[in-house]
Order: sequence, then C-alpha cells, then structure tokens
Amino acid sequence: MAEPILEVAGLVKHYPLTRGVLFHKQVGAVKAVDGVDFTLGRGETLGIVGESGCGKSTVAKMLCNLERPTAGSIRFKGEEITRLSGRALKAVRRNIQMVFQDPYTSLNPRMTVGDIIGEPYDIHPEAAPKGDRRRRVRDLLDVVGLDPDYANRYPHQFSGGQRQRIGIARGLALRPEVIVADEPVSALDVSVQAQVINLLDRLQSEFDLSYVFIAHDLSIVRHISDRVGVMYLGRIVETGRDTEIYDHPTHPYTQALLSAVPVPDPEARAHRARIILTGDVPSPTDIPSGCRFRTRCWKARDRCAREVPVLAVPAAFRDVRGAAAHASACHFAEEAVPGGVVEPGANGDGPG
Ligand SMILES: Nc1ncnc2c1ncn2[C@@H]1O[C@H](COP(=O)(O)OP(=O)(O)OP(=O)(O)O)[C@@H](O)[C@H]1O
Ligand code: SF4
Ligand SMILES: [Mg+2]
Repeated sequence: MAEPILEVAGLVKHYPLTRGVLFHKQVGAVKAVDGVDFTLGRGETLGIVGESGCGKSTVAKMLCNLERPTAGSIRFKGEEITRLSGRALKAVRRNIQMVFQDPYTSLNPRMTVGDIIGEPYDIHPEAAPKGDRRRRVRDLLDVVGLDPDYANRYPHQFSGGQRQRIGIARGLALRPEVIVADEPVSALDVSVQAQVINLLDRLQSEFDLSYVFIAHDLSIVRHISDRVGVMYLGRIVETGRDTEIYDHPTHPYTQALLSAVPVPDPEARAHRARIILTGDVPSPTDIPSGCRFRTRCWKARDRCAREVPVLAVPAAFRDVRGAAAHASACHFAEEAVPGGVVEPGANGDGPG
C-alpha cells in the first residue's frame, strides 16, 4: 500500500440525547459513528458506502475538523489532528477539504461564482496574494472545465453538474492534499454523474490528491475507488480492495447491497440472487447487542446476538492470497460462497 496520508483509529462520535428544559439530563446517545478504523494511502481513493443514516457524513465532518470526535484518533501525515487548535488547526484544515453533496444548497446564491471559489483565500490569505486571486479563480474554473468568464455569474445560472464543478473548484483553491467528497454526485442526473466522476479522476492525478469518496450506492464508487469500506450503523463492517469487495464480498450486508447493483451481463444476472433487506435500520440510539446487523441478517444465529464480530481477515482466508482475504466483521464470513455469489433463494426471494 502507498504511504499513509490519513490514519483513522477507533473514531467515535456520540451526540448526547438530553431530556428536560432546565437541567438537560443526558438520557442516552445517538451513536452516529461508533468505532471506525481505516487508512488512506497517498494518491489513493477510499470509497465509503452505506445506507442513509449510517454515519458517513459524520465521519467526513470529523476528517475535515468540522466536528470534534467523542473519541479516537485521526492522523494526517503522522500528526494527530483531533486535538489541534489555533494556527495548527487552520493549517490542517487547509490540507483536507470537503466537497459537499448538494450543489443546490451548498453554494451561497447571493455570491458570484468567482467570490465563492475565492472565498477560501479570505480565510487563508497566505495561500494567494490579493492581486493574484482573480487569475487563480479563472484558472480554477478552467481546470474544472468551465469558462473562466463565468466568474461574474451567480449559482442559479448553472446546472447541477456545473454547480458541482464550482464546488470542486472551491475545494481545490487551497491546493489541499486530501479531498473528502461527501456524496458528490448523488444529487445529479445519472448522465452527469459519470462526467463529474471522470473530472475528479483527472484532477486526482493532476493535483496529486488523495480522496475519501462517500456514496450510498456501491455502483457509484466502483470506478473511482482503489479500496472500499462498507459502513453499517456507525461502523465499517467490511473493507478491502475494490475487486475483493465486488468479486468476493464476505459480509451479508455487502452481499445485500451488491445484489441491488444492476448487472449488465444477462448470464451473470441469472446466477445472482437478489437479497432484499427486510426491516429498517435500527436507531443509532439503541444498537443491537452482538452483531449490529443481526436484526436484518438472513444468516444470523444465536452467537450473533452474544458476540460482537471483529473487523478482521477470516482465519481460514489468512494464508490464502485470494479475493476473500480481506477484513469482514462477520462470525461466518468464511462461509461466503467463492465468487461472491449467494445461492438463489438464500432468504427466500429467489433470483432477481
Ligand atoms: N448534530 C447531530 N445531533 C444528533 N444526531 C445527529 C447529528 N448529526 C447526525 N446525527 C445522527 O447521526 C446519524 C448519522 O448521520 P449521518 O448524517 O452521518 O449519516 P449519513 O450516513 O451521512 O446519512 P445520509 O446518507 O442520509 O447522508 C443519523 O442517525 C443522524 O440522525
Ligand atoms: S455476525 Fe451473524 S448477524 Fe452479523 S453479519 Fe455475520 S451472520 Fe449476520
Ligand atoms: Mg450524509
């Protein structure tokens, strides 16, 4: 693996649940992120995938220092960044930038595009001398495939895809080393999604960037990710290289998510089971005992309610070099069928 640029260990964010107007007695906690570990290599893209509410945006905000973790560590190029303040915090913030999900609400409608892209220079004046900002903004527009003369226009004059390009240009203004993109294409039409992903791909090599790319759908991150982490209820439940996750998922949750991804090849489609997840995601205030996925898992057994599965390479796969040899937080990951295919009818739904 490439030299690590971000190292995340035991990351936790619990929001207190309080009752009472005067004394705010704490009666519980929203366990939005509940112990997340991963490493991002320089120049690499880590895709983070999971259903709505599983804690993806909360992880993103902690990486960008927009939220303070309840516990855990985030290292940027070896330096712990969760407890920084003042000038040191500002310097790190410059290096880890966020691209937001919704290009319709994340751009201030009363500012010109040029002012939006150049705004980071107001906060970090050291990054660009005042006389040079106009030229830099024009360059940034050009880099993201927009006409530099658009700098005087307003966000409402642009399409969703163009607005996301503006958001990306702003994210690049301070020449960060890491970009955390929180569902950057989820609000866009399918036809535009690929263009924005291709742009991010090109910018990655041009600017030597490392990406954390968040999505709720495994098919979106496939083209851009070197590695993928699948999140469920505040934790990563399976992680590995893209081929390991797509060709040999060993966690039932990943298998279910993948079974919903369209397969163009009819023969492959015929051999694949549709696993329909039943029930709702449990509340992050009341996480199930043992395996947090057990209330929706078709493979759950008694042990799953008692023991928390550790995110690790299953013992039987440790000495083999196949696609199965990647970390999975399931007691029965070893039973996953080679090729990632789950027998049709595994949960009574038959092939889709
Ligand atoms: N400030 C907050 N106070 C209390 N609970 C919060 C707060 N922010 C987020 N949460 C809760 O934490 C959980 C995780 O939220 P988060 O936004 O990180 O999920 P997500 O995976 O990004 O979801 P989505 O796909 O909908 O964007 C949710 O249950 C959410 O309601
Ligand atoms: S540990 Fe049990 S409940 Fe959890 S994913 Fe594996 S089989 Fe399902
Ligand atoms: Mg989110």
